[in-house]
Amino acid sequence: MRSLLVTGGAGFIGSNFVRMVLDEHADTKVVNYDSLTYAGNLENLKGYMDNPRHVFVKGDICDAALVKQTVEEHNIDAIVHFAAESHVDRSLVEPGVFIETNVQGTLTLLKVALEKQMERFVQVSTDEVYGSLGTEGFFTESTPLSPNSPYSASKAAADMLVQAYGHSWGLRYNITRCSNNYGQYQFPEKMIPLMINNALNDKELPVYGDGLYVRDWLYVYDHCTAVWKVLTEAQPGTVYNIGGNNEKTNLEVVGLILERLGKPASLIRHVKDRPGHDRRYAIDSSKMMSELGWRPSVTFEEGIRQTIDWYLSNGDWLKHVVSGQYQSYYEKMYDGR
Ligand code: NAD
Ligand code: DAU
Repeated sequence: MRSLLVTGGAGFIGSNFVRMVLDEHADTKVVNYDSLTYAGNLENLKGYMDNPRHVFVKGDICDAALVKQTVEEHNIDAIVHFAAESHVDRSLVEPGVFIETNVQGTLTLLKVALEKQMERFVQVSTDEVYGSLGTEGFFTESTPLSPNSPYSASKAAADMLVQAYGHSWGLRYNITRCSNNYGQYQFPEKMIPLMINNALNDKELPVYGDGLYVRDWLYVYDHCTAVWKVLTEAQPGTVYNIGGNNEKTNLEVVGLILERLGKPASLIRHVKDRPGHDRRYAIDSSKMMSELGWRPSVTFEEGIRQTIDWYLSNGDWLKHVVSGQYQSYYEKMYDGR
């Protein structure tokens, strides 16, 4: 049986990945290593905590001793590394923790992966490391790195460390760079769940600037199947871009949410823009498709419908995550904006 260390497996994408592996890959044991920051939530793993192929370890990826002990105790063969500080807006307010977790934490994992001669280290990265596009063109795997926010700079630094470990010592790694994910269990600091939550509560929808920023939306399940393919089929030392081929302006996305929830467009409020806001992301996923035969399974229209319906039928989950800390976060980021 393969024994996989999944970091950040209590977060949005990590928990979707853990559930997918446990549901679809019976030959794999998952050791889920997560420090449970504000973004980590064991409710995301409801129904899976007692699965005999799932072990949860509460720990920080910067804690070298605990990482090593966990790897040894569970005979880990490979690491899929999702754990990160992931929100651009937070990185503009408090960048230090992004360097700590995304750079130092990745280095800690790399050292252990190399020492244990692991079969694979998959670094889950982001298209934001490439910077911003104008109205034309796509990010390919050979687009130069040009990160614009403290978040994307920390992810780019981590990617380069991973490549340095491959180049210098032969670590068998892959890097995946995906576009904006959406779907079930996403924390409502990110645009789609934040807008759904506000619309459900008849609160204003805070659209940054002119709302014509473009993102390439990727359904989270499709991202997870792509990461699995990279882990199990890709040659080591390679980078793969993963996109949904669904470019939408933020106003288009917000419009779809309002329509599905039967709420008026008058809820939209244009607010002060994000500093250094990247204008457009768009991914060329042709390498994933031609080399690994990956395809997204849903259209954006279908995926966003399923996502909104999930939030509607998981009101308790949403109520829990927006209580307490979230209220003060929201006030700090949005009041008077
Ligand atoms: P998330 O913020 O929802 O979850 C991050 C998880 O990491 C949480 O469970 C948190 O508790 C854990 N974590 C944070 N710091 C930790 C630490 N020091 N030690 C151990 N665990 C820690 O993030 P997400 O949206 O699920 O993103 C997962 C990964 O995918 C990140 O690496 C992110 O950069 C990347 N990514 C995300 C998107 C997206 O659209 N969400 C797109 C591209 C890439
Ligand atoms: O592209 C991949 C990246 O996508 C990931 O690496 C990041 O972890 C993830 O957070 C995401 O970054 P973005 O900054 O693109 O996502 P966010 O959901 O924060 O914003 C999406 C767009 O919506 C962006 O143009 C900013 C805008 N926005 C966001 C929020 C939270 C608003 O207009 N209003 C908002 O309140």
